[in-house]
Amino acid sequence: MNYAEAEKMLKKCGQEHVLAWWKKLDKAGRAALLEQVARIEPRSLTYCRQALAKGADVPDSSGGKAPKVAVLKGRALKDAVAVGEKELMKGRVAALLVAGGQGSRLGYDGPKGCYQIGPVTNAPLFYFHARKILARTIRYGAAIPFYVMTSEANNAATVKCFEENDYFGLNPDDVFFFTQGMWPGMTKDGKIIMDAPGHVFMSPDGHGGLLAALKRSGALADMKKRGIRSVFFFQVDNPLVEIADPAFIGYHVMNKSEYSLKLCAKRDPREKVGMAMRFGDIHRMVEYTELTDEQANRRTKDGRLYFLYGSPAIHVFDRAFLDREASRPMPVHLAFKKIPFVDAKGRVVKPSEPNAYKFEKFIFDILPKAKRTAFLAFEQKEEFSPVKNAEGNDSPATCRADMQAKWRRWFAEIGVKVPDGVPVEIDPAYAVDAEDLRSIGICLGAE
Ligand code: UD1
Repeated sequence: MNYAEAEKMLKKCGQEHVLAWWKKLDKAGRAALLEQVARIEPRSLTYCRQALAKGADVPDSSGGKAPKVAVLKGRALKDAVAVGEKELMKGRVAALLVAGGQGSRLGYDGPKGCYQIGPVTNAPLFYFHARKILARTIRYGAAIPFYVMTSEANNAATVKCFEENDYFGLNPDDVFFFTQGMWPGMTKDGKIIMDAPGHVFMSPDGHGGLLAALKRSGALADMKKRGIRSVFFFQVDNPLVEIADPAFIGYHVMNKSEYSLKLCAKRDPREKVGMAMRFGDIHRMVEYTELTDEQANRRTKDGRLYFLYGSPAIHVFDRAFLDREASRPMPVHLAFKKIPFVDAKGRVVKPSEPNAYKFEKFIFDILPKAKRTAFLAFEQKEEFSPVKNAEGNDSPATCRADMQAKWRRWFAEIGVKVPDGVPVEIDPAYAVDAEDLRSIGICLGAE
């Protein structure tokens, strides 16, 4: 893009101030600014402005009902597992990880997936995800292609982490990195924010940016070419997740679902997890921030929470559904933040109060678009212990404790007593469940 093209595009969108400091920029600064402008899609500016005009109103959730959530046991569980295993053996399942977030609450600078969580080995979060995929690939004799969404800020470091660790044993041909989009920040009146005279403030477009990025990068086409039908979605911060779990895949396929969610009972009424709710014939996700106190604390006659099940963001999508939704616009959410800006004299000001908006899309906003959905319950202690905060709840300490407690349960299940206080860690490629441990016939030192 040259200057004239940039000027034309920006004028058309009412954003010509982006070039206000052009004359003061050196050659490299000008080139960098033009490159930034070239990456701004006029359509996304329209979506952001529409979101601003609409304001931060959240849709009314007062009429929401709890969804029907299945608990699989006995025969039903066996049937679902059999169907899921068949899908895995036929190579129809992909894993999809969103890892573009910034990990700011954790206070960690690099890609969150590089955060060292292994209780004994200090292995990073990516290791646990990749080795679980490897384990199922070996068990079912078919590749599970692994699609990893990064952001511009962490893509290079993410790829480096995989390369330096030999892709954690995965075949690099089955690992596909793709980068989510970036959106400019805006003032209240819809003007793009410059955080330096030659630089537009941009931030990742949220995990909902996944759909556009899957399409743009060719990942969706790659899935189609490989004959993928079910796409297992998960977040980078949860090393307990059972990736490509056959029961969940099977349940999704048996229900001919387009979008299936795993849900678990909340640990407390105000736990920070999204809630899937039913509104007539459709389902919609209601974020924890939107849940009223009445809804959070509502009880059934037997004293249980009415909105019991929260979403840990573990989903299975039908590949064709993702394809269909990838070309459609998604709702845009606003976040009012402190964003540095250039004043009239060209000086950079760091505001002490929120002054402008960032925009994000959320992947679960496509839930109401699904023609068929399925909701499956699971036990939180088995599959959900995210690393969100540096300390306290959902921190590295609670996550490591939960990982170890799970492995200890496996040992107990096969009759092996691990002495208290001994740190435990199992390479997921070595054993992905207690059954694996049993069949391998473990040896725990001298009797
Ligand atoms: C999220 C969900 C919440 C769910 C909870 C479970 C949202 C808005 N809320 O909350 O419903 O119950 O997880 O742990 O998502 N990411 C990107 N690109 C982005 C932003 C995020 O890839 O632009 C990724 C992150 O790397 C992470 C995931 O999305 O893997 C979730 O992001 P995070 O900000 O941690 O979401 P939460 O607010 O904790």
